[in-house]
Amino acid sequence: MSALKQIEEVRTSFLTELDDVNQDLNQIEQFRTKYLGRRGKIASLFSLMGKVSDEERPALGESLNKLKNELNVLFENKVLEFNLSRQREEDDLIDLSLPGKQQRLGSIHILEQTLSEIKDIYRSIGFHIAYGPEVDDEYHNFTALNVPEHHPARDMQDTFFIDPETVLRTHTSNVQVHLMEDQDPPIRYIVPGRVYRNEAIGYKSYCLFHQVEGIYINETVSFGELKGCLEYFVKQMFGIKKKMRFRPSYFPFTEPSAEVDIWDEERQQWMEILGCGMVNPMVLNNVGYDSNRFHGYAFGMGVERIAMLKHKISDIRHFYSGDIRILEQFI
Ligand code: PHE
Repeated sequence: MSALKQIEEVRTSFLTELDDVNQDLNQIEQFRTKYLGRRGKIASLFSLMGKVSDEERPALGESLNKLKNELNVLFENKVLEFNLSRQREEDDLIDLSLPGKQQRLGSIHILEQTLSEIKDIYRSIGFHIAYGPEVDDEYHNFTALNVPEHHPARDMQDTFFIDPETVLRTHTSNVQVHLMEDQDPPIRYIVPGRVYRNEAIGYKSYCLFHQVEGIYINETVSFGELKGCLEYFVKQMFGIKKKMRFRPSYFPFTEPSAEVDIWDEERQQWMEILGCGMVNPMVLNNVGYDSNRFHGYAFGMGVERIAMLKHKISDIRHFYSGDIRILEQFI
């Protein structure tokens, strides 16, 4: 058989078989090996070069190269076509009636939301915001606040000790002392922060919680102003109809002292949300203020309890559970 005829035969069978190639990658690969591979039909046609005369060789070479290029292009087009149709099949598989994937968005925790409401209310009536240490010495947490060593008042708040002189603060009142040590009166601050108590855990008590301390010191400050300030707060936070009451109480660092209760609609009982009072002159003396000239009030409120009352959250432990079903209710 002449060389040209052999070329023509390979070309024809190539074209015929190529038409049938459209099933899978395996088939394509087999076809490629058969024709275009290193030992494929086209490569073996090139061995004809050695068998023809010197005169015929250039023309044969040219035809072989042409064939090789042509078939390569045809094959590559086939592969492209195959990939395209596969892509189309995949696209057809998309079920447009399926519901979309729900993306979960993070949100601000309900405690943080409550805290920022509290801050806004006090900011609007002239309080600045300050922060202080959560790990503090006994002096700032107790002694300077007129709670001497071995005084039973230290048992009022069961304390976590870091070492014999260092505590996890049991209230934000330690920051009252820091602020007064650092600045001369008048001062007017609220101090949000975390506090820790080693006490029995229940629906309204946890081993850690948040307080917002308030302190106002000036030349003339009255108990009436303290009451007015706290009433204003409760009305802003809960609405003017919310039932509240002041109840006489005792704190070593205030005199006189009181607590504020809010009516808990769910449980039909009072819930204490804060302690307050006129800053005890002993405390003013401890920080070097002239207690004959300066007076002040202070309060410390529980953020969790305020959030519980406002949002009908039944248990303080919900704030720390990280349960998505709780978190989602307050987005
Ligand atoms: N520190 C008190 C408590 O944690 C609250 C309080 C603050 C009372 C300031 C009076 C004045 O219970």
